[in-house]
Amino acid sequence: MTESFAPGVRVRDLTVVYRTPAGELPALAGVGLTLAPGTITGIVGESGSGKSTLALSLLNAVQPPGRIKAGSVDIDGLGDVVQLGGDELRRARGRQVGYVFQAAQNSLNPLKTVGKQLLDLGRSHDVADLPALVGEARALLGRMGLDGGRVLDSYQHELSGGMRQRVGIMLALVLNAHLVVLDEPTTALDMITQATILRIVKEVHRERGLTTLIVTHDIGVAAEVTDCLAVMYGGRVVEHGPTTAVLGSPRHPYTRGLIRAIPRLSGDIDEARALPGRPPTLGTIPAEGCVFRERCPLRMAVCDTVDPAPAAYGERTVACHAVGQPVAPAVRKEYV
Ligand SMILES: Nc1ncnc2c1ncn2[C@@H]1O[C@H](COP(=O)(O)OP(=O)(O)OP(=O)(O)O)[C@@H](O)[C@H]1O
Ligand code: SF4
Ligand SMILES: [Mg+2]
Repeated sequence: MTESFAPGVRVRDLTVVYRTPAGELPALAGVGLTLAPGTITGIVGESGSGKSTLALSLLNAVQPPGRIKAGSVDIDGLGDVVQLGGDELRRARGRQVGYVFQAAQNSLNPLKTVGKQLLDLGRSHDVADLPALVGEARALLGRMGLDGGRVLDSYQHELSGGMRQRVGIMLALVLNAHLVVLDEPTTALDMITQATILRIVKEVHRERGLTTLIVTHDIGVAAEVTDCLAVMYGGRVVEHGPTTAVLGSPRHPYTRGLIRAIPRLSGDIDEARALPGRPPTLGTIPAEGCVFRERCPLRMAVCDTVDPAPAAYGERTVACHAVGQPVAPAVRKEYV
């Protein structure tokens, strides 16, 4: 059966555009990313870098005015989801790919109890044993610190934002999908509950042998929960590799800047520095050259004209002209 193993995922040359008054502009430009079976991958990056667009593409769920213009998303057991349509996609979503969309706390049906929606979900996927599905839902909600029976009897407006987010996570896991995509699944929760819930997601991931993708803009969260990390900027994956390696010895100047901005990761509160400048928007992403160059301390002439292709360095992939070249050791300003 296709559901009995953790699937690998291969995103290749994925370009997604949104229609704007200025024409179709790319939110993802030739993105490549591999999710190894059984791993938890985090996607981090500033707002607008394309994290949600990439997560939606894994379900071929980019909505107009957006569309997948080119590329493929090959999922073991499913094939290239970009080529799937209609009924095949509907069946895959939920059953083979469990997901929480961003702002999922607003996506429940206000007119039906959570339990009714759970049964609808089960029926639409031909689940034979609905009582077992309800039992599983209660157990998952209980693990996340909620009274499962009460939540299933509730309408959306009777639940807090944090409770709704946990309902969203339950719905992503309850059909036992082996690929799970979670886009900012815990933003409505306080820091401590957020960490607890993500630890539970990690436990379920390990118990069931899943492949999981978690989008977050909190690198601290990603550090705790993920095996691999993809760093996005301006519609590109600029660095990807094992989380300990990416955070312990970041190679892309953007990754370095992100980490330096976080005291608990940089290890020195006095040294934590916000990344200067702002990330680009769809309209301001440069059409040629490196998308990070306006903020990059290592910018060279080639960066203005040639978009750096991702290159492999051991287990790591980095897209930067300065990486792999002999660079003078960084000298701190105060010692110059
Ligand atoms: N429906 C849309 N119409 C036009 N542009 C869009 C649409 N959705 C997203 N975009 C643009 O595409 C780019 C990528 O957006 P996306 O939502 O994927 O970013 P993100 O990394 O998830 O950001 P955030 O951290 O804010 O969730 C952004 O520039 C965004 O403005
Ligand atoms: S390619 Fe150039 S501008 Fe882009 S991150 Fe590397 S050094 Fe900086
Ligand atoms: Mg997003």
